[in-house]
Formats: sequence, C-alpha cells, structure tokens
Amino acid sequence: MQSSETTQLARQRQEPSWWRHAVIYQIYPRSFADSDGDGIGDLQGIRDRMSYLARLGVDAIWLSPFYRSPQADAGYDVSDYRDVDPLFGDLDEFDKMLSRAHESGLKVIVDLVPNHTSDEHVWFKEALASPVGSPARDRYIFRKGKGANSELPPNNWQSMFGGSAWTRVDGTDQWYLHMFDTKQPDLNWHNPEVHEEFIRTLRFWLDRGVDGFRVDVAHGMIKKEGLPDAEEGQVTNVDGDRGPMWDQDGVHDIYREWRKVLDEYDGDRSMVAEAWVSPERMARYIRSDEMCQAFNFPYMMTPWNADAYRRVIQRSLDEFGKVNAPSTWVLSNHDVTRHATRFGMPNPGTVLRGISLHTEQPDEVLGLRRARASIFMTLGLPGSAYIYQGEELGLPENTTMDDSFRQDPTYFRTNGKDVGRDGCRVPIPWKAKAPAYGFGPDNSAHTWLPQPDSFARYAIDVEEKDPLSTLALYRRVLKLRQWYDLGNGEVEWLDAPHKDVLMFRNRDVIAVINMGDQTVPLPDLQILAQSQPETMDGLLPGNSAVWMFAHKR
Ligand code: NOJ
Repeated sequence: MQSSETTQLARQRQEPSWWRHAVIYQIYPRSFADSDGDGIGDLQGIRDRMSYLARLGVDAIWLSPFYRSPQADAGYDVSDYRDVDPLFGDLDEFDKMLSRAHESGLKVIVDLVPNHTSDEHVWFKEALASPVGSPARDRYIFRKGKGANSELPPNNWQSMFGGSAWTRVDGTDQWYLHMFDTKQPDLNWHNPEVHEEFIRTLRFWLDRGVDGFRVDVAHGMIKKEGLPDAEEGQVTNVDGDRGPMWDQDGVHDIYREWRKVLDEYDGDRSMVAEAWVSPERMARYIRSDEMCQAFNFPYMMTPWNADAYRRVIQRSLDEFGKVNAPSTWVLSNHDVTRHATRFGMPNPGTVLRGISLHTEQPDEVLGLRRARASIFMTLGLPGSAYIYQGEELGLPENTTMDDSFRQDPTYFRTNGKDVGRDGCRVPIPWKAKAPAYGFGPDNSAHTWLPQPDSFARYAIDVEEKDPLSTLALYRRVLKLRQWYDLGNGEVEWLDAPHKDVLMFRNRDVIAVINMGDQTVPLPDLQILAQSQPETMDGLLPGNSAVWMFAHKR
C-alpha cells in the first residue's frame, strides 16, 4: 500500500463516521415536489429542488419508498424492489437525482421494506397459485385457520392498521399473515430464498451508489416459534413486552448478515432501524456488527415536559453509549401527527396519530412556538438528528381534511375511528401565491391530498424572505450546530433556573429550553440563537429556547 493511502486510511479511521453526527432530512417523495403535474411528487421534483436542501444545511436525505408498488400503503407495499414506480420516474431519473445529491454534498439513504411485500409482488401471486406446502408458499406465512371449518384466523394477532392480522385465501382453509394491510403479506424470514433476495436488493442499490438504508419494521421480521396468541396489552407500548410478533432475537442475525454486505462497499454505508422498542432493546439493533442507528421513538413520544425529556435523553445516551452508538433524535415523520400540532394539543404527547384530532383542535400559535423551541433541544444534542420535510417551515398537520380525501389504510381498517396519517403527508408549500402552493409545475393545481389555506403562511418563498421565519431559524441553528460540532459532543446537564427548564452544555454551547409558561432568568452569557424574537438578555419567555456561548464575555 502506498504511504499516501495509508495516511488517508488512518485519517479515515480517526474521523467519526458521517452518520454518527449527521442531520438527515426525510423526504416523503409523494409530497415533496411534483415535476410533471400529476399531483404526486417525484424524483425529478427532488432533483430540481436539491439546492434548497443543500442551503438548509443538512448532511443527508432519506427517501421514503419510490419503488414499484400498487400504493396500497403509499409505497410501503412493494411489488418490485429493484425498480422505480412510474409515478416517481424511472431508474435513469433515480441515478440523476442521486448524482445531483452527491454533487450538492448530500448523502442519500433509501427505504428498505423487508417485513412484507405487496400482494401484487410476483412471489405472492405465485404463492397463491401454488399448492399448500409448496416452496412458493413457504416464502410467506400461511397457516390453516382455526374452528371446525377453518373459519377463524390461526391466532389473535391484530394488524397495526386495525382488524385481524390474517386474511383467508378464498375457498380454502388457509390464511396468510399481514401485520399491516391485507395487501402487505408478511415474508417468512426462515426461508433462505428471502435472505438471498434481499441481499440482491441491497447490492442493487449499493452498486448504484446509495449511502445507506432505512429499514422498515426492523423489529418485525422474525415471529415467535409456533405463532402463539398475543396477551392482553401487548403491542401497545414501546416499553415492556411487545408480544410474539415483535423484537424477537432472530432479527439480529439478519442485520449481522447485512452489515457484512455493507462493509464490502467503500464510503461507510449506513443502516437505520425503524424499531418500535425501548431504548434498552433498541441498543441491541445498533451493536457494532449490526445497524448504525435506530430511530429514537421514545424521544418522539415524549410529551412537552422538561423532566420527561431529561429522563428520555439521559436514558438514550446511557443505553446507546453502552454499545458505543450515537443516539438519534427525531420528533416527526410520515407516521405521526406533526410535532408543531402535537405540541399545541390540549394534551400534547398523547396524540401520536390522528385519533384525537376528531375531537380536539390544536392551538396553532402555541404549537409553533414550542416546535421552534424544540429544535434547540433536538439539534443541540450529540448524535444524529432527523428532520421531516416541512418541519423546517413550522408546518402543522392538516387537521381539517375532509374524510373523503383520506387514503391511509388505517382510516379504513378502523372504520374512521383513527383518522390515520394523511394529515402529516400533505404536499408542502413552495410558493404562497401559486396554485397548489407551487407544489407542481406552473399552474398545476393538482395535489394528491388537499392543502389547508393556512399553508400560505408557511410557504418557502414567504419564509425565505423573512429573517424571523422558522426556515431562517433552522438554517441558523443548523449552521451553528455544524460550527460548534455539536453532533460529536457530549451532554453535561446544568442546574436549570426552574423545574420546567431543560439546560445542558454541549461543547461551547449551552442550550436552555423553557417548557413552562413562565419567563425565567438566563445566565449572563452571549445568546447565539433564540427561538423567539422577543427574548432579551437575561430573560427567557415561556415555551421558548436559546443557545448561548458557554464562555464568559
Ligand atoms: C412503517 C412505515 O413508516 C409506515 O409508513 C408503514 O405503513 C409501515 N411501516 C408498514 O410498512
């Protein structure tokens, strides 16, 4: 080996991996930008707006699925893992989008959906056309029903979207398992063919140059031997026993297998787990021979309360620290009510999905104020942070959507009891005065979900011109985070001036987040950034935050 190569390698070894401290922006391709006017966002739309993302100051983007799919669960029902759905473009456009991202200094993570396929995947069609006990059926989880005529499902498992997790194959005694929609049959991960197929898929995207994968339902691929009934109360909470369908030890063998594949590639490719488990269990997914990151859902589920955040942050740092992995910090994604709305609900924190939006309306002003304050916590912590598209605008949930527009299977499978996730998936506003707020090409007014009138206030062209906008705030805070290298720092808790205040030091920055309604005193230090313009030296108003320079002036 040449000595220059040796030096380069040594340097690489000393530098922390990019994903240990990266800020990753989640793009929900359907709703980011539409280049062809069909009302659904696409890959070219993303490519065309790449400069916006580069300017924002994030390190990477994660794209929710754009693969071939009947779109029964907005693309999380994949019928071909190695092709782009015509709705979003084609492979050639994917390559162009990827190059543009890389030229702009952004890494790209793509979604991998290994727990289930679409029922329109060639494998599932083949399974239905093949006899019981055939190799084609063994790729999925078919079982004989219970009852004299097999009229009852094989066990009591419930779909995450509501109703039984089993669907009967017409005219037979066989049922198939789907932990989500009927159109998303679960794969049998005890079958070696399933392993081989996903390794092919990993390689396919790695060869094209992606920087990593977000692994859907990472805690669900292995089910407990014998598929025993779940007990009352299981499945509802990330803490404690989640039942026989989640977080089984066997899933870790899969990630060890995948890690070896990723390690064959240069460039430090990453994997992030979507695993709804406690911090203690989550740490098992990010041991050094498995994944790199896991979404910190316990953090996301924490209500607006300083003590609750202090506890969840410390618990995450402790647990992830034991396996020498960074924590992630995430407040919103395409599955939960946007945090600008959650924080404005009478009972913030309990509304992770749309259930109570039927009965309670949020306080939009308070929600936005708290959302702006919350980024001083999320982006002030060491590790990696995720931003969900539109949160940099302070975008609220669409809480006034007419039910006739709803598309989320959750809404249908619960007979409307849970309004589902459409409200956080609405196309984002680019231009206040254009049709569809500039989501599509000129004069195209079409959007797959309706945008509320309030979106005009949050449009990117409006916020770009306003130095006090949430967008301007995100840009400033992201720049400071990078400047002070907070992603690679450490948390030191400081004595806060009030029980409702969270105060910690990370490197040269002191973050003070006031989650109460009262104004509290601030230390006599220079303010680097503030969530509310009215903050003055010495006083921090309620539901607002600052970053201060840690050294005396
Ligand atoms: C988690 C994804 O984030 C969600 O959108 C999807 O419905 C389920 N997994 C099933 O794939």
